[in-house]
Amino acid sequence: MEIIVLPTAEDVAVRAAAIVREQLASAIAGDATASGILGLATGSSPLGLYRELAKARRSGLLDLTGAHGFALDEYVGLPAGHPQSYREVLTREVCDPLGLDPANLHVPDGSGRTLDELDAAAATYDDSIQELGGIDVQILGIGSNGHIGFNEPGSSLSSRTRVKRLSDRTRLDNARFFARPEDVPTHCVTQGLGTILEARALVLVAKGLGKAAAVAAAVEGPLSASCPASVLQWHPRAWVVVDEAAATGLRNREYYAEAAAGLDG
Ligand code: F6R
Repeated sequence: MEIIVLPTAEDVAVRAAAIVREQLASAIAGDATASGILGLATGSSPLGLYRELAKARRSGLLDLTGAHGFALDEYVGLPAGHPQSYREVLTREVCDPLGLDPANLHVPDGSGRTLDELDAAAATYDDSIQELGGIDVQILGIGSNGHIGFNEPGSSLSSRTRVKRLSDRTRLDNARFFARPEDVPTHCVTQGLGTILEARALVLVAKGLGKAAAVAAAVEGPLSASCPASVLQWHPRAWVVVDEAAATGLRNREYYAEAAAGLDG
């Protein structure tokens, strides 16, 4: 795991976007038929990263023609076209600015009326990721309670895409996107931690003091279902890119800076 601490959220966006581009390029290098498969987080954390990728596209440094995108999660029960449904958010923030064909945007289906329906669609979604060859680079944010995707504390470390109940903390954190707190859905369909671990590279971004405890637990705490983001410790190619505020709880910052300097450090 590589931990990169940078002065500002803008620096985080620039560096994380560069890592995503490099990992995507190396994943498709040498295969003329591959266009890349991105795993897409929503929420506010990756917005700067997406803006940087859009800039790269305008400069000719990124071409997502033919690429596919897989969302991490979707709310259950929002009507189709709801502006806060993750399909809509990703269409706005990723498809349009980055040139990802909306037909190649895959989002878990949260429209099922029963648990059986939702679970069946979740399993199909999980399978479809592997059928297209697996995710090359998964972009992640982290919840203030340590969740990734919507794998709330207590999630199995080997879980697959499935229905989850959102914790009160997450619903409160996400209330800012809705007119009233009670409008935040109670359930979601999320890629599981086992699903996320199958991506070939993981890039987690975090900014702000509100994420400091979660980042510290994920990076320096035990590998534990109590902090789902700690599964990144188990992945062979994971980057955690955070700003100063989100790094406040890290004890080994000096070492991370030295390690990031490579053989010259
Ligand atoms: C959303 C997702 C969540 C968010 C997390 C942080 O697709 O997977 O794990 O990344 O809740 O949200 P923000 O970035 O809004 O603080």
